[in-house]
Amino acid sequence: MTIKEVSIDQILPIRQQVMWPDKSIDFVRVPEDENGIHFGLFVEENLISVVSVFIHGQEAQFRKFATLEQFQGKGYGSRLLEYIFDFLEGKKVTRIWCNARTSKAGFYQKFGMVETEVIFQKEGMAYVEMERYC
Ligand SMILES: CC(C)(COP(=O)(O)OP(=O)(O)OC[C@H]1O[C@@H](n2cnc3c(N)ncnc32)[C@H](O)[C@@H]1OP(=O)(O)O)[C@@H](O)C(=O)NCCC(=O)NCCS
Repeated sequence: MTIKEVSIDQILPIRQQVMWPDKSIDFVRVPEDENGIHFGLFVEENLISVVSVFIHGQEAQFRKFATLEQFQGKGYGSRLLEYIFDFLEGKKVTRIWCNARTSKAGFYQKFGMVETEVIFQKEGMAYVEMERYC
């Protein structure tokens, strides 16, 4: 297993397949992608889990966290998340946050993230903003 920085073009197919399988690759792009740092977890040279990180001053948001379905529930996503938290703490970031699918809030709580009062719906999906202070 290896975790490393990858290009946005490597990320997009997994993002689309896992998060929005009924939409196009262009749908899963976000304008900020050009300024993001994209990380991928490889198993035997195959990219299976991805996440993108956006640093704004002392705050960092992570977005579009996805593991290929057949590899979910095996601990890979947790390894990738731990890796980016270490990376961000090394960058002297003081607050890490994300807009979590509400169904995934329990997962992020295991990493010390807490739900804020910001909740919203987008594209028929319920979200809650979660944060962790470093
Ligand atoms: C969210 C997501 C990225 C997590 O990736 P993952 O690789 O499945 O993550 P993990 O395997 O580390 O953890 C998933 C679950 O498996 C459990 N698990 C099973 N075996 C495990 C093991 N050996 N080691 C660690 N965790 C294990 C974890 O506890 C976790 O349980 P929980 O969901 O009840 O909290 C993945 O489920 C996904 O891509 N979902 C669809 C897209 C999505 O919802 N993205 C997030 C938007 S906020």
